[in-house]
Amino acid sequence: IKKIGVLTSGGDSPGMNAAIRSVVRTCAYHGIECVGIYRGYQGLIEGDFKEMGPRSVNNIVNKGGTILKSARSAEFRTAEGRKKAYDNVVKAGMDALVVIGGDGSFTGGLVFNSEYNFPVMGIPGTIDNDIFGTSHTLGYDTALNTVVDCIDKIRDTASSHNRLFFVEVMGRDAGHIALNAGIGAGAEEILIPEENLGLDRLLESLKKSKASGKSSSIVVIAEGDKIGKNVFELKDYVDANLPEYDVRVSVLGHMQRGGAPSCFDRVLASRLGVKAVESLLEGKSNLMVGLLEDKVTLTPLEQAIKGKSEIDRDLLRVSDIMTT
Ligand code: F6P
Repeated sequence: IKKIGVLTSGGDSPGMNAAIRSVVRTCAYHGIECVGIYRGYQGLIEGDFKEMGPRSVNNIVNKGGTILKSARSAEFRTAEGRKKAYDNVVKAGMDALVVIGGDGSFTGGLVFNSEYNFPVMGIPGTIDNDIFGTSHTLGYDTALNTVVDCIDKIRDTASSHNRLFFVEVMGRDAGHIALNAGIGAGAEEILIPEENLGLDRLLESLKKSKASGKSSSIVVIAEGDKIGKNVFELKDYVDANLPEYDVRVSVLGHMQRGGAPSCFDRVLASRLGVKAVESLLEGKSNLMVGLLEDKVTLTPLEQAIKGKSEIDRDLLRVSDIMTT
């Protein structure tokens, strides 16, 4: 292997830049070339490349987002699109690809490999932490800290005005952010996609909390929760059923995806980038680098895509006890 391409794809996450930097510098360390591919697979199709030496990634370890930009490419889902991408890759002299992204990005990489036998290595980057084969995805730790910080601020108003706040956090299919940030920020209830709390239990819990002397509360809701009402409908429901509560809604949205990566995410990105490049140099392919029990590991991309990253059910109990 003489030249490795690197791209970021899907939703951006803090730590992606630190991972790009790590891939670029590990290539330089081993005396091979690195090519940055802009806008994920779309840039691969359009030949939007840039040679990257170790100085091209100065001062990005601390930056959120991705300097290579990201996109979801519909064209790469077609055989014609992938053929164009392959022609460009050959023309540029690349002989392996590092894909930084989530499961959709890994699926694209696997299909590309199966058609052209092109070596692919994945680095998990998404704030949702919903990838099998790693305890932490890039950006997850930063997002947790951002969410906790926001809820701490919301709590000031909740407490000053004796209010109940429904705070919606990201997590289309996974409750990792809601559950962990919820416990960290002292939420009264946490609604996640993996477990339907049910409207009755929610009302009961809120009544109990009021009766126990609490004057303000925070309920954290993952955007993909299964209670059957969106956060605004939930507010209406509680307004109608528990008029003693003064309810407000706060949807944190994309602020959760931005900002400087935490130290944990920077170190993780550096470790995963080194492992991704060195694994390719060892002739490995179709794997995802990840972190399990604080060791950098390799998981087949296929398993990473198909496997489910389970939430820690003990945390549900911890959360219950904390609201006593
Ligand atoms: O996959 C990460 C994620 O942040 C999800 O939690 C969220 O549903 C989605 O991205 C939002 O994506 P977009 O920025 O494309 O609206």
